[in-house]
Amino acid sequence: MDDLTDDIRRRALIEASLMTHEEWTTLVRSFYERLLQHHPALAVRFARVNIEFQVQKLIVILSSIARDLPDRSALDRVLFHMGVAHVERGIRRTEFTEFIALLANVLSAKANLVNPDQAYGVWYQELSAMATAMLLTSP
Ligand code: HEM
Repeated sequence: MDDLTDDIRRRALIEASLMTHEEWTTLVRSFYERLLQHHPALAVRFARVNIEFQVQKLIVILSSIARDLPDRSALDRVLFHMGVAHVERGIRRTEFTEFIALLANVLSAKANLVNPDQAYGVWYQELSAMATAMLLTSP
């Protein structure tokens, strides 16, 4: 990663780490609303899921990513186990790609400190790394 990208990454993550729980809730709720309305292939997976609980679960993971800048190893272990549960449900890599592109879109639209295109790139990279940690056992 070059210095500029690294700097933008740091600023985007610091900004996210400063968001209140209420701001996270608004943002992640709007992510699931868009997913359910506009991404039918993903929406079927959530047919019997309590979305309000799901919002809070995703916030725990996302806000940890924003906070846990220096050492990701503990978080990576959690992600690995979570990923196994997703793979066992039959969720595919292509679904992850669609999921993280939408999530990066929603998260970067909120960024105040950095330009939205750069913020999209930063979030996409962060979420891809997260998906990689989750999908180590996926075919
Ligand atoms: C980076 C990507 C993802 C993250 C960080 C993530 C995060 C989570 C978390 C934290 C949980 C709750 C786990 C628990 O209760 O122990 C969960 C459950 C679940 N996720 Fe994901 N997820 C991701 C991708 C996906 C994708 C691509 C799909 C399918 C389209 C999906 C569908 C589900 C479903 C169906 C559940 C179970 C919900 C329930 O039964 O309550 N996830 N996910």
